Amino acid sequence: MAKVMWQSFCFLSLVVITSVVVISWHLFNNGDRDPSVHRHVHLVHTDRLDRNSKRGNPPDLLFHWDVDKRSDYDAVMDFMEQGVAGHPQNQRGDIAARKLDLNSDSEPDSTDDENWTKNKLQVDNLPGEENVKKVNVSESLVPKEVGTSRLRADVAKLYNVTSTCKPLQSIAMIKTHKCSSSTLQNILFRKAEDLDLQVALPATSVYMGSPSYFSRRYIHLDRGQKYNIMASHMRFRSPRDVKQVMMDDAKYITILRDPVKQYESIFTYYGLQKRFKARLHDFLKSPERHFRLFEPRMTRVVGRNPMCYDNGWDARLFPEGNTRIDQFITILEEWYDLVLIAEYFDESLILLKDLMCWTLDDVVYFSQNARNKDSVVSLSSEDKVAIHKWNWADSKLYVHFNKSLWQKIEQYGKERMELEVNILTQKKEKLAADCIGQTVKEGDKRMWYPSGIKVNSFLLNPNAVHKHLCEQMTRPENTFLNKLREKQMMSFRRGRR
Ligand SMILES: *[C@@H]1O[C@H](CO)[C@@H](O)[C@H](O)[C@H]1NC(C)=O
Ligand SMILES: *[C@@H]1O[C@H](CO)[C@@H](O)[C@H](O)[C@H]1NC(C)=O
Ligand SMILES: *[C@@H]1O[C@H](CO)[C@@H](O)[C@H](O)[C@H]1NC(C)=O
Ligand SMILES: *[C@@H]1O[C@H](CO)[C@@H](O)[C@H](O)[C@H]1NC(C)=O
Repeated sequence: MAKVMWQSFCFLSLVVITSVVVISWHLFNNGDRDPSVHRHVHLVHTDRLDRNSKRGNPPDLLFHWDVDKRSDYDAVMDFMEQGVAGHPQNQRGDIAARKLDLNSDSEPDSTDDENWTKNKLQVDNLPGEENVKKVNVSESLVPKEVGTSRLRADVAKLYNVTSTCKPLQSIAMIKTHKCSSSTLQNILFRKAEDLDLQVALPATSVYMGSPSYFSRRYIHLDRGQKYNIMASHMRFRSPRDVKQVMMDDAKYITILRDPVKQYESIFTYYGLQKRFKARLHDFLKSPERHFRLFEPRMTRVVGRNPMCYDNGWDARLFPEGNTRIDQFITILEEWYDLVLIAEYFDESLILLKDLMCWTLDDVVYFSQNARNKDSVVSLSSEDKVAIHKWNWADSKLYVHFNKSLWQKIEQYGKERMELEVNILTQKKEKLAADCIGQTVKEGDKRMWYPSGIKVNSFLLNPNAVHKHLCEQMTRPENTFLNKLREKQMMSFRRGRR
């Protein structure tokens, strides 16, 4: 077999601002030509070039084709040139898309974080004009509505863009306990900080009211304004209370988790064995008895159907199977724009990104406030059945919204979802390698640890390349809250002067 020593990279940069597509093909030939050489075609956002590179982020990779035959390469190039909305060449795009292989270890360095801007320049200045084709597709490839704001991943998929979007800034998360909601909060707070948005923060601690119901008097330095972001715990009663303080175009979300895992987490993290004077396993043998004796009427964290409680319905005293759950689910279906599911966190985040017209960089994350595995109680299958039975309303809620999520994933397109989950995973891994100096499970002064519980937190790598993002992503909830509160205090003082 001929020894292949080629490296080749190809990129297609879709320049939204100037609406010119530059196709380039660069080959370094150190041996015999081999017709089956691997090539990569990358489609990247260049409208975000300035913003992303300022923040030290890689470009949004929209699409990646792995091509191993010259004829396929030509087909892709043809498609790129001609594949516009409704154009028959779309078929070729479909074929090319199936060759996609993001996990190939022969990733070209053209998207490496620190080098990508450089590579972009290299592409523009490649020797040999014959390898650089400039195609003017201002009218056809980039629909007017897309403008310079954003191209969605499905632009690349079939160049069939009929819906376009403008990034939104207003979103309220009803924060459920122990459902990865702190990780989600970090994403929303980052946005708030970077864009200097109005955030509704708790005046003290991490709760905006609770166990009393949320009202704006629990908001830090509230002056009756409308808010862009809300992502803290509260005792939520009704959509009306929250809508009153949010911007008119705000989206509403929450997150649910498998009730078995969530209940174990609540029980352990909040030390419910002290409240109920029984360990989880023993509690589950006769939950009614412990519950009747020891459950407080008013509390932040309840001992039965906690996810329903966090979403505004106290289902503690309703008997199993009560039909009110169905009404409650209908209300939530109407109220929420998206209900995320912790077990499908990445898929959920991609739907969130889509809902808000954000980018993958906006939703990249490290798991915040997750217990170290040392502090997770293992459950028998009887325990699991008992948890479901005891938290019957939460179980129904979860099954329902898990189904809704998967319907949304179906609508979004499974292939496209898979692609984006892959890209998100890669981004996370790269950032974790860059950002995290150390993961610690105890003794981090920035953290709050429930008694006897170990919780993971991340110490920033002092030499991180993506300094700003890394610093934000490794910032624990309390630190972030305090930082945002301080910032509000400063601007409050300035306003009074
Ligand atoms: C960036 O390019 C330089 C020089 O080509 C190389 O030494 C370095 O490893 C590259 N960085 C990454 C992250 O690939
Ligand atoms: C692309 O086409 C538009 C409109 O047809 C024209 O104004 C523009 O100059 C062209 N750009 C290039 C780089 O050829
Ligand atoms: C392009 O979008 C339109 C409108 O959504 C749809 O009817 C059509 O089937 C799409 N074409 C392709 C090739 O997906
Ligand atoms: C959630 O939905 C997925 C996809 O349909 C399914 O595989 C999974 O079993 C569901 N989980 C529950 C608890 O219903």
